[in-house]
Amino acid sequence: MSHQSAKDFFRPLAVGAPAPLREIPARPSRAIHFFDPSNEKMAAKIPGMVGTVDVLLGNLEDAVKADNKVAAREGLVKIAQSTDFGPTQLWTRINALDSPWVLDDLTTLVPAIGEKLDVIMVPKVQGAEDIHYVDRLLAQLEAKAGISRPILIHAILETARGVANVEEICGASPRMQGLSLGPADLAADRKMKTTRVGGGHPGYLVREDPPRDANGDTRVDAQRAVFQQDLWHYTIAKMVDACAMHGIYPYYGPFGDIADVVACEDQFRNAFLLGCVGTWSLHPKQIAIANKVFSPSVEDIAHARRVVAAMGDGTGAVMIDGKMEDDASLKQCLVLVALAEQLAEIDPELKAAYDAIPDSEVDA
Ligand code: GLV
Ligand code: MG
Repeated sequence: MSHQSAKDFFRPLAVGAPAPLREIPARPSRAIHFFDPSNEKMAAKIPGMVGTVDVLLGNLEDAVKADNKVAAREGLVKIAQSTDFGPTQLWTRINALDSPWVLDDLTTLVPAIGEKLDVIMVPKVQGAEDIHYVDRLLAQLEAKAGISRPILIHAILETARGVANVEEICGASPRMQGLSLGPADLAADRKMKTTRVGGGHPGYLVREDPPRDANGDTRVDAQRAVFQQDLWHYTIAKMVDACAMHGIYPYYGPFGDIADVVACEDQFRNAFLLGCVGTWSLHPKQIAIANKVFSPSVEDIAHARRVVAAMGDGTGAVMIDGKMEDDASLKQCLVLVALAEQLAEIDPELKAAYDAIPDSEVDA
């Protein structure tokens, strides 16, 4: 229990640091595309990706070899200094707070490229104390470097304790921008018996009841339908509630089976339907999947506009195609319409598709 006054929550944590934001802007972030800044071939492609993805993230943590940690940090500084990111956000994932690299990550990045860094992703967050540590350090570094606006914090939910503390993590600082699920580390930390990076597992299923034969005996050996279940449902739902409660944004995370674009799309869509605003991309082909899944479909927007038009002042109920619509379904439709408007501002193809929805479909 914090004894801080509510009034102090929005005071900068260092003299001269920028004032904390009172609201986290809803910037499109359907795909957070990870790149390794120590990989020169990959790094050379980054300037050309500006404008093709909502977020570019220079990864310094897992997947970067220990020998390459300094090269990754320095590579990110070089790319950030020499690239105009235009509408594309620049994020980084720093090393874990108990690692030997994180202090240098922060003390190097903030003075060198703090003005260009929108969000810092902090891995393996366990509780509010981790956010408080980064919060104060960022304020000190921002003050020293004269950064004009606060750099936001995004936490990865990938420890059992982090999941247990998810609400206090979301509310730990006005810098909190959002959370991602980290299914690989979370599985290890929880001692789940999987070996994958996100996605489903064929062993996690429910099976149809057995049929009975002519004598009324159950035939457990008969062919029966099985339905694979979502290993991540509980955690994603918990994360979405905690984020919504604190006005910040939930994201799925990595889907490691790059070749299985179909299951990847399913996993992303489950997260979208449950309330997530985006996901990670570990390969350029996952960007297209994320952009498609995390943008409302033309059909959904056509329907949502019909409901909005039919509901007038929002009170009462109407019947559309045999279904009852009321204030609560109107509110769901308004969520989709608002998201479509935001995305249309940065995505001309999507704007054209939404603009092409005939009015007759709206008024019908
Ligand atoms: C991501 O960092 C994960 O551990 O899944
Ligand atoms: Mg991880």
